[in-house]
Amino acid sequence: MRVILYMAMTANGYVATTEGGTEWVSPGDWERFKELARETGNVVVGRATYDAMVDEKTFPVPGALNVVMTREAPTADPLKEVVFSDASPEEVIAMMREKGFESVLVAGGGSLNGSFMTDGLIDELYLTVEPVVLGDGIRLFEHGDFARELELVDTAKLSEHEVQLHYRVKKYTVEDVTGGSSAEAELEPEEE
Ligand SMILES: NC(=O)c1ccc[n+]([C@@H]2O[C@H](COP(=O)([O-])OP(=O)(O)OC[C@H]3O[C@@H](n4cnc5c(N)ncnc54)[C@H](OP(=O)(O)O)[C@@H]3O)[C@@H](O)[C@H]2O)c1
Repeated sequence: MRVILYMAMTANGYVATTEGGTEWVSPGDWERFKELARETGNVVVGRATYDAMVDEKTFPVPGALNVVMTREAPTADPLKEVVFSDASPEEVIAMMREKGFESVLVAGGGSLNGSFMTDGLIDELYLTVEPVVLGDGIRLFEHGDFARELELVDTAKLSEHEVQLHYRVKKYTVEDVTGGSSAEAELEPEEE
């Protein structure tokens, strides 16, 4: 299973204004996102992103199973291609595996991203850097508690002032976890 995070952000890492505005995200980014959603066959979003997409009339994403993560009962009538889930990120990935998907496309917002990243579930990132800076806003990862190294897989210029970065998230090694070599970890158990 490959878990991909796809987001458009400002050059200083915000995915929306404080009020949730994303009018600075380009149509080209939206087209690439829909293309990837068609490839994976699914998209997973947080409740606030769902609300914003319903307002913008961009929900559901066509040609994909749309999973909305919420701990509350949905107020909208569920459509056939929409699943509302109160499961954890790990359980949602397990559910998608059971449904036969080989990849899962996580698409925000900042809170959901922070949750998936903290749980160590993201394998790849597609980040479209829009030619905008904001003094404040919703960050790419909200409430996250993690530090990960990335490997650059590819870059693409979407338009004159817009670039997309494709990263792979490096997996933990024994050294990352123990702060030393695996031999040291075995020889020097932590004091109680
Ligand atoms: N620039 C972009 O590419 C992009 C992409 C997507 C979204 N956005 C923007 O991001 C904004 C929304 O981001 P946000 O951070 O406020 O909210 P969010 O991540 O979209 O949604 C957070 C909500 O999701 C539900 N949830 C269920 N399980 C969760 C979990 N494990 N971790 C976190 N949340 C969980 C909770 O809702 P309940 O209270 O219902 O349980 C939570 O309040 C919108 O303005 C949207 O337009 C931008």
